[in-house]
Amino acid sequence: MILVTGGAGFIGANFVLDWLGNSDEPVLNLDKLTYAGNLHNLQSLQGDARHHFVQGDIGDRALLDKLLAEHQPRAIVNFAAESHVDRSIHGPEDFIQTNVVGTFRLLEAARHYWSALPAIEKQAFRFLHVSTDEVYGTLSPSDPAFTEDNKIEPNSPYSASKAASDHLVRAWHHTYGLPVLTTNCSNNYGPLHFPEKLIPLVIVNALAGKPLPIYGDGMQVRDWLYVRDHCSAIRRVLDAGRLGETYNVGGWNEMPNIEIVKLVCALLDELRPRGDGQPYAAQITYVTDRPGHDRRYAIDARKLERELAWRPAETFATGIRKTVQWYLDHPEWVATVQSGAYREWVAKHYAG
Ligand code: NAD
Ligand code: DAU
Repeated sequence: MILVTGGAGFIGANFVLDWLGNSDEPVLNLDKLTYAGNLHNLQSLQGDARHHFVQGDIGDRALLDKLLAEHQPRAIVNFAAESHVDRSIHGPEDFIQTNVVGTFRLLEAARHYWSALPAIEKQAFRFLHVSTDEVYGTLSPSDPAFTEDNKIEPNSPYSASKAASDHLVRAWHHTYGLPVLTTNCSNNYGPLHFPEKLIPLVIVNALAGKPLPIYGDGMQVRDWLYVRDHCSAIRRVLDAGRLGETYNVGGWNEMPNIEIVKLVCALLDELRPRGDGQPYAAQITYVTDRPGHDRRYAIDARKLERELAWRPAETFATGIRKTVQWYLDHPEWVATVQSGAYREWVAKHYAG
């Protein structure tokens, strides 16, 4: 079996569903169930003996030791993290605890478990760390896309904490020989995306008749990848990635935020027109910019393509249509995740 951490969050849950859709190898899913983790994401696995869920913290060393000894996984895939940049600006502490201290504890538990494995299992063991393009900092419009050789220049508390975790993973390989792999991916979108992030926030606000908040001038560029393509990249790296290497994952799909929002509005106009005949774009509202807002991210994913023959299956046109349709088809999921804690965050962050 494999141990997946953070498997009740957006990408982790998509990964678990994708994994069990492609193989019968069981998954031990360790997730703390913070505001971002949701067992509704895994409802379709209820009663499926291949999925074993444990609520717990990657920073809890005793729990990690117990789970590793009991379940003897052949790999660990680490998604668990605090992931929202705006929250890291309001309160960085949780980001340091989970992304830095938590990753450290997980690495230490993995190292002790791995060191004691018999030779064949030891050689086959993998620790895959899921990271982000944000560790590379920001690009100007004319800069080439980030390669794996770019300097690490994180600008937000979130990206700094992820960069720190990437460094720990690298050091545990270099010093102790732990068989690690790291992926650095661009912005994901798709089903199960928590509506604090741009695309799902715009969909749910549009349908609720609320403002669609655009930070600053809306010309910040992100490189969007459909979440299931990220999952297929992780499976590929886990299968065949070279030990100690990092692999950039991206969709070759750079777009300014305002264009993304207009495109989502146009899809909603087509699929669920407003009752008053007005376009959803009328709800667009420019708001104060994010402090330290990175201007542009772009991923050069040629290493992954060249070495492991990975390519995304979705174009942005197909992926975003599926995504908007998924939100239209799952109003009960949206209602469930918009709990009291969610409403408090929105009220605090978008006040004024
Ligand atoms: P998310 O916030 O939706 O989910 C994170 C999950 O981790 C939640 O289920 C949460 O309960 C769990 N978690 C948090 N702290 C934990 C802890 N201490 N112990 C155990 N579980 C804990 O995040 P996501 O968007 O699914 O991102 C997953 C990973 O992918 C993160 O490491 C993130 O940095 C990385 N990543 C995200 C994107 C993106 O666009 N969302 C892009 C590149 C990389
Ligand atoms: O690049 C990968 C990263 O993508 C991941 O590592 C992070 O975990 C993930 O959250 C995401 O970070 P971003 O900050 O790019 O995503 P977010 O959806 O928060 O914002 C996308 C862009 O939209 C960004 O330029 C900020 C802007 N934005 C966001 C929100 C929530 C707005 O203009 N208005 C908003 O209300």
